[in-house]
Amino acid sequence: MATFDVIILGGGPAGYVCAIRASQLGLATAVVEKEKLGGVCVNIGCIPTKALLHSAAVANLVSHDLKGLGVEVASVKTDYGVAMKRSRQVSEQNSKGVEFLMKKNKVTVIKGMGTLLPGKKVKVGDETHTATKAVVIATGSRVKGIPQIGLEINKTTVISSDEALFLEKAPPTIAIVGAGAVGSEFADIFNAFGSKVTLVEALPRILPIEDAECADALTKSFKKRGIVVMAGAKVMKATVGAADVTLELEVAGKAEKVTVEKVLMAAGRAVNTENMGFKEAGVQLTDRGFVKVNLATLETTAPGVYCIGDVAGPPMLAHKGSREGVVVAERIAGHKPHAIKYDNIPSVTYCHPEVASIGMTEEQCKEKKLDYQVGRFPFSANGRARASNETEGFVKIIRDKKYGEILGAHIVGGHASEMIHELVVARENESTVEEVDLAVHAHPTLSEAIAEAALDSMGRVMHT
Ligand code: NAI
Repeated sequence: MATFDVIILGGGPAGYVCAIRASQLGLATAVVEKEKLGGVCVNIGCIPTKALLHSAAVANLVSHDLKGLGVEVASVKTDYGVAMKRSRQVSEQNSKGVEFLMKKNKVTVIKGMGTLLPGKKVKVGDETHTATKAVVIATGSRVKGIPQIGLEINKTTVISSDEALFLEKAPPTIAIVGAGAVGSEFADIFNAFGSKVTLVEALPRILPIEDAECADALTKSFKKRGIVVMAGAKVMKATVGAADVTLELEVAGKAEKVTVEKVLMAAGRAVNTENMGFKEAGVQLTDRGFVKVNLATLETTAPGVYCIGDVAGPPMLAHKGSREGVVVAERIAGHKPHAIKYDNIPSVTYCHPEVASIGMTEEQCKEKKLDYQVGRFPFSANGRARASNETEGFVKIIRDKKYGEILGAHIVGGHASEMIHELVVARENESTVEEVDLAVHAHPTLSEAIAEAALDSMGRVMHT
């Protein structure tokens, strides 16, 4: 039994970042974690998938994009098992890195399953620990199947990203149910490793939360590479056999059937709120099953108990959780941190081409009847993109006509995940589109496409 200022339940990107900040502010801090530090992101999410996506990008480059570069590769052979092992090493390295950071910051790591008890106490095994200032719930989320239609994850023929990350071989055929970030990234990976991929999305287009133009560009690119994209396709029933699965789909009122060796479920995640004493400790849930939090303070319905990350509600993104971790630590330490601007959290899907965005989509601007002007610039007109043979995609900026506000910005293309931050910083600081253009952009860079899209939204584009 030990006493700390702060006890954090869960050592993912929300929890461990909260611990570092709390410790920096002089609070005696403990993190309770039942598995490896780093959570889903480091161990079975963001990091290992990015390692696999890098392998996929290299495979695509040497298979399709070497023409005219003066480089020849005699024959291309891909091996998912080898790529998987490397992705595990990268993940392991990152988890060890988090362990190191806990030591460096003098955060106590308590291994085991934590249960919240009333009065800011946490039980781990036979030990009960007390927090004098606060307990922070950061228990994250997990994959889920759709048992109602027969798609329960059985870890063999019906898998989730958890299993996909440990496969020794890419399956000959795979259907991916759900074309959000998880589904689109795995479609890219398995396609590059030779699987025949069918991507099934119930809503009318893939990446449904992104701007329609971006989703359409990605659809085109996926189709060109042989991925079968079925949008507006509802899975009605699944028949799961020992070696294959048959999906019965309804596509635009018509019945279709797809039989594949594996189905990867990527239709959203469930949050971890069960069997951890939340209800007994006075922590209430929302109708959708998230922990109920006061968004201004991130405090739950139990005084002194905070909640951050996936379990606190959407968007379920590592960087949103980490920021909440910092803000909560500062609040517990008695500071007055800046409020989080939830409408200024970037979204990135790391498939090829990458899709990155900030702010509103054009569809949302239309719905809100805003008076806006769209600026676009294609990478095919950008010198650096031509030189690097990365001409796919575009930058799109939506500008408020009267005030020049950046209502939304959307990038499809190589390095979109890195480029978007210029516009994230601009929006955070309430810079106008005019001010984005005023900043001199180095030549030749892909970022010049941002300045050109800014100009285009003012009717002054130069290079198209
Ligand atoms: P998601 O909720 O983003 O996407 C799931 C998709 O499945 C939706 O488009 C939904 O319409 C579709 N769907 C649901 N039921 C279906 C059905 N029966 N048939 C066909 N389609 C169906 O969930 P996802 O991709 O699993 O990701 C979970 C969370 O993790 C999200 O919040 C996501 O943003 C986050 N994440 C973020 C990543 C990133 O930032 N790159 C990478 C991976 C996950």
